[in-house]
Amino acid sequence: MDSFITIREIDSAANFITRQIVEKPVVALVLGSGLGGLAEAVNDARIIPFNQIPEWPVSTIQGHSGRLVFGRLFGVPSMVMQGRVHYYEGYSMDRVTFPIRVMQRMGVRNLVLTNAAGAINPDYVPGDVMLLTDHLNLIGMGGQNPLRGPNLNEFGERFPDMSQPYDSLFIAAARQVAQKHHIKLHEGVYVCLAGPSFESPADLRFLKIIGADAVGMSTVPENIVARHAKMRVLGLSGISNKANLDGSTVTTHEEVLEAGKVIVPKLTTIIRGVIETLAGE
Ligand code: HPA
Repeated sequence: MDSFITIREIDSAANFITRQIVEKPVVALVLGSGLGGLAEAVNDARIIPFNQIPEWPVSTIQGHSGRLVFGRLFGVPSMVMQGRVHYYEGYSMDRVTFPIRVMQRMGVRNLVLTNAAGAINPDYVPGDVMLLTDHLNLIGMGGQNPLRGPNLNEFGERFPDMSQPYDSLFIAAARQVAQKHHIKLHEGVYVCLAGPSFESPADLRFLKIIGADAVGMSTVPENIVARHAKMRVLGLSGISNKANLDGSTVTTHEEVLEAGKVIVPKLTTIIRGVIETLAGE
C-alpha cells in the first residue's frame, strides 16, 4: 500500500502555527496564481513562510510566494495562504491538500478557494471572475482523489456527500455583493486537470462537451478535503486567458499572472462582501 499523511504530521504543523498566532482564524483563503495581492488587505499581518512549517508542502512556481498570512481581513480573523502546491509539481494529492487538513485541525470552518483559470465558456474574457457553482473532478475520476487511502475517521466519513461542493449561502452573498458593486460575475463549472501542459484544442472541445466553463489545475482536491471536513466553501476563478478551442491562440503562464492585476480588485470586493457575513462568528 502507498504511504499517506498521518494525523501526527498534520498536528505537528497545526501546533507549530497555533503557537505563533494570537487569534484562531474564522476563515481561511487560498490565493491562486497572480492573486497573492489580496493578502495586502490583512491588518496587523503575522507572516509564516511555508518552509518554516513542519511537513508543509512548498511551492516551486513563480507567482506563488509561499507563505501564510494571519490577521484580520475586513474585521474577521483570517488565515491566508499566499500560494499553494499543485499535483503537477510532483506532490501526491494528500500532500496537495495537507494545508486544508491543518486548517481543519485548527478549527477553521470556512474556506475561500481562488484560482486562475482558462475560459472555455465563450462568454468569458480575460479579467472576468467566475463564481464556482460546481466542479468536475476529472483527476479524481481517474483515480487521484485526495481521500484515497485509509480514512482519517477523526476528520470525516469514508464516503462523504458531495451534493453541495460550494456553499449556497456564500454563493448568494457573492452574487449580492457583485450586483451591488456592478461587477460582472459569471457562475459556472470548474474542471481541474493535472497539468502542467495546457490543453490541446481537442482537450478543450471535450471539456466543453462535458459541461466545463473554466479549466485549471487546482481547487477541486482542496474542495473535496474541505467538504470531507464539512467546511463551507466559496470558490472563485479569475479568468486569465481564453482557452484555445480552435488552436488559434497560445496560452502562457505570463498572461495568467498579468490578468491577476485586473482580477484582484474585483475578487477583493466580492470576498470582502462574503467574509463580512462571518463577522462575530
Ligand atoms: N488551462 C489550465 N489551467 C489554467 C489555464 C488554462 O488555460 N489558465 C490558467 N490556469
